[in-house]
Amino acid sequence: MTTNTYDDIKESIAPELARLHEAIHHTLKSSSNPLLNTVVESYLQSKGKLIRPILVILTARLFGDVSDKVIASASAVEMLHNASLIHDDVVDESEMRRGAPTINAVWDNHIAVLVGDFFEAGALSQAVSTGDIRIVDSLTCLGRILSLGELDQIYNARGHTLSEEAYFKIINQKTASLFVSCVEIGAYAVGIAIDDPRLMAMRRYAELLGLCFQIRDDIFDYFPAETSTIGKPTANDIREGKVTLPLLYALTSEDAPDPDYHQMMRQAAMADDQPDEDMIEALYAYARQRGGIDYAYTTMEHLHSEATTVLSAAFGADNEALAPFHSIFRFIIDRRK
Ligand code: IPE
Ligand code: IPE
Ligand code: MG
Ligand code: MG
Repeated sequence: MTTNTYDDIKESIAPELARLHEAIHHTLKSSSNPLLNTVVESYLQSKGKLIRPILVILTARLFGDVSDKVIASASAVEMLHNASLIHDDVVDESEMRRGAPTINAVWDNHIAVLVGDFFEAGALSQAVSTGDIRIVDSLTCLGRILSLGELDQIYNARGHTLSEEAYFKIINQKTASLFVSCVEIGAYAVGIAIDDPRLMAMRRYAELLGLCFQIRDDIFDYFPAETSTIGKPTANDIREGKVTLPLLYALTSEDAPDPDYHQMMRQAAMADDQPDEDMIEALYAYARQRGGIDYAYTTMEHLHSEATTVLSAAFGADNEALAPFHSIFRFIIDRRK
């Protein structure tokens, strides 16, 4: 089967992506408030990877034509994603995103919350413009799930729960749910029925992809030296009490060579107070030394192989139309930003 790089895939839908940018700019720019216009203008200068709207467009192309309805849906998804990032940076007190200062860093939390709301409203208005209640429904349900994921994460922070099940539930809600919506919306926009078995397969593929996406993102946090390539801060999660897969593995594996040290690491991760800088570094080092990163990569490979099986069962093995979806999965696991 053909394998493409992520840039090849973007190149193959360049006109559709140009329409996407046009739709986003049209929705967000030229409001009656000059401050808002300035913030939006500067925010839109640095673009993300666009993985979510690309999934919408590719799914629509798999089942039909990339109509204006598809582009409106893709722009809704990207704006909702951006709203959640703008708000997330307030919650995480983060000062850099996509290699540029965040809105909360340049202006303040107040403005960032309001601009995030404005992006969210833009997302809903684009969704409504499709006239398709299933698309609106998918996005509004999603808003709920994303907030629940973030709230569960805050609740679980500082070790209320140290389990893989709880971790997967959170990343499913806060990240994978949006990926599932992308394929749903892309399929609905070209008239695919809700119970079409091919859509069921695509939903599962997107869920597995989304889980891997967040696992990969969580791994970035363990490599402070790579901050400049990634374009956002690292070593933040443990500071905030988030125990992600590599550390979770290290803290819950049974065969620790030094049980006293292991116990000390567990207590530090689960303490109510934020650990000091030395302890934070020790926790990251412990996760790396105990094989947490390898474990996270192995987990992603398992999810990847399930995705391949699901797609082959629904569309036939080596179906060329699926090539970009396989390539995207590889890109998500191997990506360096
Ligand atoms: C970051 O998403 C938030 C997570 C779910 C980890 P992306 O890495 O897709 O962000 P951009 O849009 O490419 O900047
Ligand atoms: C993902 O979590 C955030 C959203 C789903 C909005 P993170 O907090 O890990 O995302 P980054 O690392 O800040 O991009
Ligand atoms: Mg964050
Ligand atoms: Mg992160």
